[in-house]
Amino acid sequence: KKRIAVMTSGGDSPGMSAAVRAVVRQTIASGCTAFCVYEGYQGLVDGGDMIREMKWEDVRGWISEGGTLIGTARCMAFIERAGRLTAANNMIEKGIDALVICGGDGSLTGADKFRAEWPSLMEELISTGKRKDHEVAPFRHLNIVGLVGSIDNDLSSTDATIGCYSSLQRICQSIDFIDSTAFSHQRAFVVEVMGRHCGWLALMAGVSCGADFVFIPENPPSEKWEDDMCSIVKKHREMGKRKTIVIVAEGAHDKNLNHISASQVKDLLSNKVGLDTRVTTLGHVQRGGPPCAYDRMLATLQGVEAVKAVLEATPETESPVICIVENKIVRKNLVEAIKMTKKVAEDIGRKDFAAAMKGRDAE
Ligand code: F6P
Repeated sequence: KKRIAVMTSGGDSPGMSAAVRAVVRQTIASGCTAFCVYEGYQGLVDGGDMIREMKWEDVRGWISEGGTLIGTARCMAFIERAGRLTAANNMIEKGIDALVICGGDGSLTGADKFRAEWPSLMEELISTGKRKDHEVAPFRHLNIVGLVGSIDNDLSSTDATIGCYSSLQRICQSIDFIDSTAFSHQRAFVVEVMGRHCGWLALMAGVSCGADFVFIPENPPSEKWEDDMCSIVKKHREMGKRKTIVIVAEGAHDKNLNHISASQVKDLLSNKVGLDTRVTTLGHVQRGGPPCAYDRMLATLQGVEAVKAVLEATPETESPVICIVENKIVRKNLVEAIKMTKKVAEDIGRKDFAAAMKGRDAE
């Protein structure tokens, strides 16, 4: 019977706790033993009590909890081979031969590298005398399954990542609050939203809130964007609008990859359009708090699928990532999904993207 561990890694997102609950319970329901690794890769390196067996009732109520109740951390030690060797040894200690990781692209890349390196880590444990041959024999192969937890919705191959709709909902609610005060004072607000290199949150919030203008990294504005934006805002005002909302994705830039900041946009609206303008940076309220119904459902269905993928895997199976495509829960090749994510970024001119991805494997 398999001994399956689940961990969360990278930035937290609403629905991660629900995903952990689903993995733990489906593991137990399948007659296997469930473990949680606390504090992401750091917990794997630290071992001991950071890798805990979980019972059915240990995850009671987790479906509606925000963030991740098993913690997440950036782990420098896991970037080094020595750290990964210790992590592998700790897993053997607990008899764990499958790992489900819920995280972003960086965390999932790190996980697949760990899988690829696993046989050589086993060799090293034997050659350095840390483990005997017969102890390592049952662990010749490591199963890795990815779940995509991120508010950014920035992984190719899936229509939605666990957490993105909760975050979008929070942004829309916040803009609704801003709307009423903007209307009262006839003000303009520049709202900066998260998303890292991805403009999904900004774009969807723009559509959902009827924003006047949206800046996203995937579609950098033309050279004369300053005049374009100002004339659109002016036109809307002439049509009788009492308020102006401009949404800026935190990763927005122009065609030359110069960052477009909320304060830059504010200065334009103040000085060129003459509007009383404020900036609101929504920050981490977009990431915390309880998951919406969609994310609870997505996390639960995908957590169940992750355990099924572990149980059906053979040593030849390439690591899958659990996705949702046209409303169906599907398995995709993890490495391919990450490759495609990078390619999309590069195709739109984000040559800096690959560089930004470096060093995030252990998040
Ligand atoms: O990836 C999730 C995210 O919230 C991004 O939208 C944002 O750029 C980043 O993480 C913020 O990270 P931190 O909480 O480490 O500042």
